[in-house]
Amino acid sequence: METPTTPDERLKPSHERLTAPGQRLEAFGNQLIDVHAWLRDELGRLRGDVESHLAGRSVRPRALAAHCLAFCSALERHHTGEDAAAFPALAEQFPQLRPVLQELTRDHRIISDILRRLQSLLDGLGDSDAAQPRDVQAELDGLAALMESHFTYEERKIAAALDSLDIPGWHDAPPAFLRIASASASASASASASDSGDDGDGGGDDDASHC
Ligand SMILES: [Fe+2]
Ligand SMILES: [Fe+2]
Repeated sequence: METPTTPDERLKPSHERLTAPGQRLEAFGNQLIDVHAWLRDELGRLRGDVESHLAGRSVRPRALAAHCLAFCSALERHHTGEDAAAFPALAEQFPQLRPVLQELTRDHRIISDILRRLQSLLDGLGDSDAAQPRDVQAELDGLAALMESHFTYEERKIAAALDSLDIPGWHDAPPAFLRIASASASASASASASDSGDDGDGGGDDDASHC
């Protein structure tokens, strides 16, 4: 484990830290930014699917619901992971960040409320009520605005501090807030179901039901 010796070193981006000849570890702040970029892309695709559905093109309600639930699950997992792992580690190493971390945690709760409303709407998606997809679209619009401001603020305030953390276990087994792969597989499966016209009955992973 590399032990920074000065405050400046602790905040120095460590994405090019050498761990062995020819091997580099990507710093956690950079990984956070990568996860945010992926979530932004996924939300963009989801909003595109909703627009297509509203325009009467190709995307069936059950497939749309599966895609939406997969995304909600990935976002919720990212935020609960930050609350459980990233923020406590940062609060311990950088007490001056605690007010920022409290703000970010408040954002997570607001976003969770939006995800719960989406879940409720999605439970009835595909019924004859034509207003529901519009309601989903409105919730996704609000979610996109809040998510963007949250991600931007979070990256500005904590990415450098995350870069300075050296927690080998996070490299060996990435905590939930740094994971893309499993959520990506779930969303891809849902997107494939959407593309193929599958109604999504067998799609999605277990996490989708927790959204
Ligand atoms: Fe966050
Ligand atoms: Fe985040």
